[in-house]
Amino acid sequence: MRFDVCTLFPEMFESYLGQSILKRAIDRELVSVHRWDFRDYTDDKHNKVDDRPFGGGPGMLIRCQPVFDCVEAVRQVDDENDEPDELISLTPQGERLDQQLAAELATRKRVILLCGRYEGFDERIRLGLKPREVSIGDFVLNGGEVAAMVVIDSVVRLLPGVLGDETSSKYDSFSESGLLEYPQYTRPREYRGMTVPEVLIGGNHEEVARWRAEQSLQRTKERRADLIQQQSQDDAG
Ligand code: ADE
Repeated sequence: MRFDVCTLFPEMFESYLGQSILKRAIDRELVSVHRWDFRDYTDDKHNKVDDRPFGGGPGMLIRCQPVFDCVEAVRQVDDENDEPDELISLTPQGERLDQQLAAELATRKRVILLCGRYEGFDERIRLGLKPREVSIGDFVLNGGEVAAMVVIDSVVRLLPGVLGDETSSKYDSFSESGLLEYPQYTRPREYRGMTVPEVLIGGNHEEVARWRAEQSLQRTKERRADLIQQQSQDDAG
């Protein structure tokens, strides 16, 4: 799978892409993440990518020209795949990212991520490029970069072969069961007076599975009753 991230701050991705699961997935060529700088595409002689909003108001807007030209350049790269790309703009006004959307994006061969900054994009970027708009939650970030990393992170862990154990994203919270994940313990058996539940030590796989299912359900009821309602609606229809 290929990601193309269009941003004013490509360096923000450096550390994130260079470590842990992402680094391993990139090294193993399961995913590639290409960074594009809007500034490289501006036709302004002072290299400006932004301008003041018509009608007044605070802040600056990213101009159409560098964004359209950047996206056109990205799309010209021949990556030997005939499927159309999924163009996504990160914005708090978009549809909310959830596990289902991450799973849908994980089926795509190529995703282009547009990261806005300042007060936002000129509206004609939305009208002309018609990106799918995605939000990572009801709060406002300083720009789309952190949100783009969240999208990449949630998608990449679903790609086959990325996690060490093929099944380990299957049991993540919100995955197949739609419930929160059960609690887990490792050694030692006792730490500061807190002990590991007996059932996990006994070696009875059926009992362990039953206990985990109960814990998942109980946690979800306590913390996210809305997910259970959602689940029964999904099951019904
Ligand atoms: N850009 C600024 N805030 C954002 C959010 N909540 N989600 C996605 N992109 C954003």
